[in-house]
Amino acid sequence: MDGNSLGLLCKESEDSLRNALDDWRALGIAGWLEGKRPWFYFAEQIGAMCSNLVGAEPDEVILTGTTTINIHQLVNTFYKPHESRRKIIADELDFPSDIYALRSILKLRGMNPDKDLILAPSVNGSFLEEAEIVRLMDKDVAMVFLPSVLYRSGQLLNLQYLTEEAHRRGIVIGFDCCHSAGAVPHYFDRWGVDFAVWCGYKYLNGGPGSTGFLYVNQKHFDHEPALAGWFGSVKEKQFDMSLTFEHSHNAGGYQISSPGLLSAAPLEGSLKIILDAGVNAIRTKSLKMTSYLMSLVDDVLSPFNFSIGTPREEACRGGHVAAEHEEALRITEALRSRGVVPEYRPPNIIRIAPVPLYNTFHEIWQVVQHIKEIVERREYESYSKERKAI
Ligand SMILES: Cc1ncc(COP(=O)(O)O)c(C=O)c1O
Repeated sequence: MDGNSLGLLCKESEDSLRNALDDWRALGIAGWLEGKRPWFYFAEQIGAMCSNLVGAEPDEVILTGTTTINIHQLVNTFYKPHESRRKIIADELDFPSDIYALRSILKLRGMNPDKDLILAPSVNGSFLEEAEIVRLMDKDVAMVFLPSVLYRSGQLLNLQYLTEEAHRRGIVIGFDCCHSAGAVPHYFDRWGVDFAVWCGYKYLNGGPGSTGFLYVNQKHFDHEPALAGWFGSVKEKQFDMSLTFEHSHNAGGYQISSPGLLSAAPLEGSLKIILDAGVNAIRTKSLKMTSYLMSLVDDVLSPFNFSIGTPREEACRGGHVAAEHEEALRITEALRSRGVVPEYRPPNIIRIAPVPLYNTFHEIWQVVQHIKEIVERREYESYSKERKAI
């Protein structure tokens, strides 16, 4: 029940990782050009596979870096403050790493994050209102950078509406899609999104700390990457070893370093499965699963002071459900002891993510029965109130 944090390992990922190891063993450095999937083109090829999930052209997505690194790359590339247009809009429910990155980007440019970073306020500590974010899009705003799905409540923002409103005001807009890629279909090109980043280890099942992805709309391919490195070079010229950097005019141009093949290889296998199933079918089942889960929480757990902290409307929620309870931490620990793996998020959320590819409706029912027994028998009381490191 934790696929929104770390998706499980599939056999296909074991195979694609083994292929990379076999090539390394058998070919050594020749694997860059002669491997089963030559390493030199791996990031472009897997990026192209992933482009199907986000409504992009194959050359607009690249497998590279990790989410926070890719935020540094793309925000620095597209944030072009001039005269009075200097501010960045994010939100107060953002994943902390995004805010750390944005603040450090502003500081590095000698700006003042306390003034130049605007955090859209939440309605009730759980949700954001798109109209309020749009209200903040003033003439002094240069960029908007927001999550697609909020990591705690699971609220899915209306990316199309936000993009249209930002563009109407001449503002560049990008999204952190860690909690939606692979769970919710996106149409970045149709919506005109400027850029996006997402990780490979949640709904894309790439493994702990696996390589992430970035999307750059093709209308921006001329923008030189702010953080240059040789893997962003025009591919045919990279090994000319010229000291003049010429960036590739596609998403690959925003790579910095050599791809970490062993952190990337599992994604080839897992993406095959996801593409086979189709992201629309995944979303359809996911919505049914989260509806079922919420109805069970209402029926079975509300007498035990549980409430739902996720929007009920389908268009406004991603792939996980936030079940709220004041003993969320200890109930999560008790669930883990029973072999159920959800996740706790402070102060009072049990995040439950039934994953369409491998969870069943019966398992959802079982999770709710486990929670009921844990609270009925006060089993959670034997666990510490101290949160572990994670
Ligand atoms: C929404 C969101 N953004 C950013 C990150 C940070 O990702 P990374 O450690 O790959 O930089 C995470 C990690 O879970 C996340 O959930």
